Amino acid sequence: MATEVVAGTHATIHFDASKCIHSRTCVLSHPDVFVPNVVGAWIHPDAQPVEELIRIGQNCPSGAITVVRNPATAGAYADSNGAPLVNTVRVRENGPLAFEAELQIKGSPQPNPRATLCRCGQSQNKPYCDGSHVAAAFVASGEPATATFAALAVRNGPLNLQPLPNGPLRVTGNLEVVSGTGRTCNKVNETYLCRCGHSQNKPYCDGSHKAAGFQAD
Ligand code: SF4
Ligand code: FES
Repeated sequence: MATEVVAGTHATIHFDASKCIHSRTCVLSHPDVFVPNVVGAWIHPDAQPVEELIRIGQNCPSGAITVVRNPATAGAYADSNGAPLVNTVRVRENGPLAFEAELQIKGSPQPNPRATLCRCGQSQNKPYCDGSHVAAAFVASGEPATATFAALAVRNGPLNLQPLPNGPLRVTGNLEVVSGTGRTCNKVNETYLCRCGHSQNKPYCDGSHKAAGFQAD
């Protein structure tokens, strides 16, 4: 499905349904801007001031929503797709890995710093989450153990995500691994994250993809 683009007076909302993981953050926090289950127009950028629209984009974990100010709109607020000061991956309970960083996926710079990547192995849109973890009844803690780690000299910068064939997600760059409740679990410059769903040491790969016969590009 193509990205929906809805222009308001001060900002334009871009909605990419293929990225949406249905966390419903947008429709619950701003039901006046995102009105689900209606016939016709359901995105209303003029229902909130531009800074509030930017916040909606920043709070969308999947990067499905991007909010860009219209050229004539002045103000102190950046668009919602500005790079964060700290690169993070949040481990979502029974769900995907939610990244926020200056993302490169397979070496390609991404226009949105947020993306949710499959870790159950079932997505039909790998490396992205497509919500298949729900039907698959994927069970995985969002609270991994806290590792022993050192502070990162730099906390942001490019983060490259490289899905390895039939294997894990290789991550290179400065990254803080954060639990679902916000606890810092690890700080790394390179790591391999499970995307087959079978690791006994999630969110990290432990080699179980081989015995599981995991197949993915
Ligand atoms: S992933 Fe983004 S667009 Fe989808 S429901 Fe959540 S906040 Fe809304
Ligand atoms: S990708 Fe899951 S254990 Fe390696």
